[in-house]
Amino acid sequence: MIQITTRSADETLELGEKIGARLIAGDLILLFGDLGAGKTCLTQGICQGVGLEKEAYIRSPTFTLINEYHAKIPIFHVDLYRLEEEAEIINLGLEEIIYSPAVTIIEWSEKLKSEKNSNEFKYGIQDRLEIHISSKNETLREFTLLPVNLSPREPSLFPLL
Ligand SMILES: Nc1ncnc2c1ncn2[C@@H]1O[C@H](COP(=O)(O)OP(=O)(O)OP(=O)(O)O)[C@@H](O)[C@H]1O
Ligand SMILES: [Mg+2]
Repeated sequence: MIQITTRSADETLELGEKIGARLIAGDLILLFGDLGAGKTCLTQGICQGVGLEKEAYIRSPTFTLINEYHAKIPIFHVDLYRLEEEAEIINLGLEEIIYSPAVTIIEWSEKLKSEKNSNEFKYGIQDRLEIHISSKNETLREFTLLPVNLSPREPSLFPLL
C-alpha cells in the first residue's frame, strides 16, 4: 500500500499518467472517494498513460455508465454513481467487462461491495488495484493505492517514479 498526495488537478493527471503507463491488459482499477474527490480527473490521466490521445477522452460516463476507448489496450471507464439496482449492473454486462482483456476503471466501486463495509466484491472480483481518494481541502487530495493480487509486470507498479 502506498500513499501519494497531490496539490492540484494537474498533479492528479500526472499521477494518473504514471499509473496508466504501468497497466496491462486485464487490469481492474477500483476507485473509491466522495463527490469531487478526483476520480474522473485521475481516470483521465490513467487513460493518457495507457496511450489514449488527449482529445479522445470525453468525460465521465454519467448517462451511459460505460465509455469504451480504443488505446494501445482497450479501456472501459465505468461510473456507477447513478446505478440504483443490481439488475442494472447485469444489464450493463459489467461482469464480462471486468474479466475482459482490457483496462477497466470503475468510479463508485463502493457499489460493487458484496455488503456494506465488507472487503469482498461482487462477481468474485479478486485481482485489482484499489485507489482510495480523500479530499483534505479544496486542492489537497490523498491517494491510497492498494494492489490486491495484481499480476506482475515490467516495469512494476511501484515505485511509480
Ligand atoms: N489535487 C486535486 N486532484 C484532483 N482534482 C482536484 C484537485 N484539486 C482540486 N481538484 C478539483 O476537484 C474536482 C475533481 O473532480 P472529479 O470530477 O475528478 O471528481 P470525481 O471524484 O470524479 O467526482 P464525482 O463523484 O462527481 O464523479 C475538479 O473540479 C478539480 O479541478
Ligand atoms: Mg467522476
